[in-house]
Amino acid sequence: MTQQEYQKTVEKLNKYAYHYYVLDDAIATDEEYDTLYHKVLEYEKQNPQDILKNSPTQRVGDVVSEGFIKAKHHQRMWSLEDIFNEDDLEKWLTKIKKLQENITFYCEPKFDGASLNLVYENGELVRAITRGDGSEGELITQNVKTIKSVPLTIKHTGLLEIRGEVVIYKDEFEKINQERLKNNEPLFANPRNAAAGSLRQLDPKITASRNLVFLPYGVGENSLEFEYLSDLMEFIYNLGFKRPPLRATAKTKEEIQKIYEQMKAERESYAMMLDGMVIKVNELQAQKIMGYTVKVPRFAVAYKFPAVEKVTKIKDIILQVGRTGAITPVAVVEPTDIEGVVVERATLHNFDEIERKDIRINDSVIILRSGDVIPKIVKVLTDRRSGVEQKYVKPTSCPVCSGELLDEGALLKCQNLSCEARVVNSIIYFASKPCLNIDGLGTKIVEVLFRENLVRNVLDLYSLTLEDLLKLEGFKEKKSQNLLDAIQNSKGSDLWRFINALGIEHIGEVASKVIEQEFGLDFLEVTKEQLLAIDGFGPEMVESFVEFMRVNEQTIKELLAIIQPQKPQKQETQKESFFSGKTVVLTGTMSRPRSEIKALLESLGAKVAGSVSKKTDFLIFGEDAGSKYTKAQSLGVVCITEKEMEEKL
Ligand code: IVH
Repeated sequence: MTQQEYQKTVEKLNKYAYHYYVLDDAIATDEEYDTLYHKVLEYEKQNPQDILKNSPTQRVGDVVSEGFIKAKHHQRMWSLEDIFNEDDLEKWLTKIKKLQENITFYCEPKFDGASLNLVYENGELVRAITRGDGSEGELITQNVKTIKSVPLTIKHTGLLEIRGEVVIYKDEFEKINQERLKNNEPLFANPRNAAAGSLRQLDPKITASRNLVFLPYGVGENSLEFEYLSDLMEFIYNLGFKRPPLRATAKTKEEIQKIYEQMKAERESYAMMLDGMVIKVNELQAQKIMGYTVKVPRFAVAYKFPAVEKVTKIKDIILQVGRTGAITPVAVVEPTDIEGVVVERATLHNFDEIERKDIRINDSVIILRSGDVIPKIVKVLTDRRSGVEQKYVKPTSCPVCSGELLDEGALLKCQNLSCEARVVNSIIYFASKPCLNIDGLGTKIVEVLFRENLVRNVLDLYSLTLEDLLKLEGFKEKKSQNLLDAIQNSKGSDLWRFINALGIEHIGEVASKVIEQEFGLDFLEVTKEQLLAIDGFGPEMVESFVEFMRVNEQTIKELLAIIQPQKPQKQETQKESFFSGKTVVLTGTMSRPRSEIKALLESLGAKVAGSVSKKTDFLIFGEDAGSKYTKAQSLGVVCITEKEMEEKL
């Protein structure tokens, strides 16, 4: 074989594979493919210097890695807000039409798998990164190269991030589980878990054996210039990616609903699992203007499909006391398999719900499980009652400490601050993954520590000694030392973890990260006004945070002294910035004085002008932007929010 023949053969193999894996339309037999593949392999063995980047032989990684390293996404990977019915849809549409007029929509499936970011540089797949926390994930390039529907090269220059979902087809999932059953291996609960698990294999050969499929749904960093998302996606598909089974544009609520109904009706016949339909604003310029909240884009939403329902029986109603003292009734039901997950509990939310639905012990009920949320009871089948059903009586004292309960109607709250359940749950929360992430400090151990009087609050964790632990049943030297080390290791943790660990109502992981960014270690003295100025912070969150700081100031100071959380690293002012040499105009109300922003931009080499003209590169707008904004729009000047400006910095 000559070099030219070799190149031709690689091209042919890629064409066969593209037809087979991307278009689902084979144009060659397996045997033909294999014969050519071996010829290519043979040539490459003799002429390793000629190996092409897109040769199919380059998909099989031989190197088993020892672990995955972290890698940053060029642009953040977002999640989506969920809606569930026509009312929600109506509300969402009304809300976003206030932000932008004259918009249309692009609808496509919400694939149920694991999200993935593919980074192409000058046409070559250079990195594949899992979603991770949205800004950084794990580098799994070797594994992803084994996915046949991921092109190793594309006809495109520059940097392009392609985002999509890795899925396992339903029939393939069944096969894998059959195989695992035979080999006495634990089964995958659903195709999503199977896809995620297969991606994170240290041995790429295992990933290769799982027949994963990549379905693109968008782009991250890019230099593409499209007006409509629908055209952008068409461009992506034409680079060699797989198309979804259904996609369509819509103008009205009715049209969106119609596409939704069609997708819902057809989804059983699709090869992959869907858990809803994603609706996105089709005009990319409008998307840019609408921007993001702290968590999700404003220009897109996931319209979920109703989840699967099953009939089961209520065996008992038990009570859980959370870290805030709130008591949640939980139904214990006869174990029921719903799409691969055995359901044994269903949340009853609160006591009103029990009364409203007249839920009795021994009732037959319909339970629903959707996505990963805790199953709930949709309906009581009252006509199946036989007389053995028992009405449920609301408790009058805490099921854990027998303390007094505050009756807030729907909600019952244990008032006892030192109630075991409250203390134990707040310590468990404190130590959990998105908080101080103390390895090994789970429910069982915290319960023991509490009962043995070793730990009565989170501060006590830090004065535990080896002696203390060795006295406990089942605690040998190694286990005890590991736990102490884990507790010590939480010192110097990220500040946002510390804030999150305090368990302040309405302040979760995302808000904690924002507070860390904005205020650093000064978070204790933050005022309501300062917090309200942050995009995404509402009055409830602000009230809760400030009040918590006031009441718990002393404890927080003690904790700070012991844990010494890390200040966020101040980003060094970049010399070459996104705004260097650009002409920028500011308008509208911003979260800080405009003069401050002006000074900042100027220090980065931008020219801040007073009025909008054709020469303006960017209009940065705050709330209530007026005529400058309209003018910029009419001149086609790129308009970005203050938040987006911050991100560019
Ligand atoms: S768009 C800025 N589109 O769902 C837009 N996501 O709940 C962000 N997903 O993490 C996502 N199908 O992994 C989008 N057609 C689709 C999707 C999709 C599945 C996943 C994705 C994301 C999660 C959001």
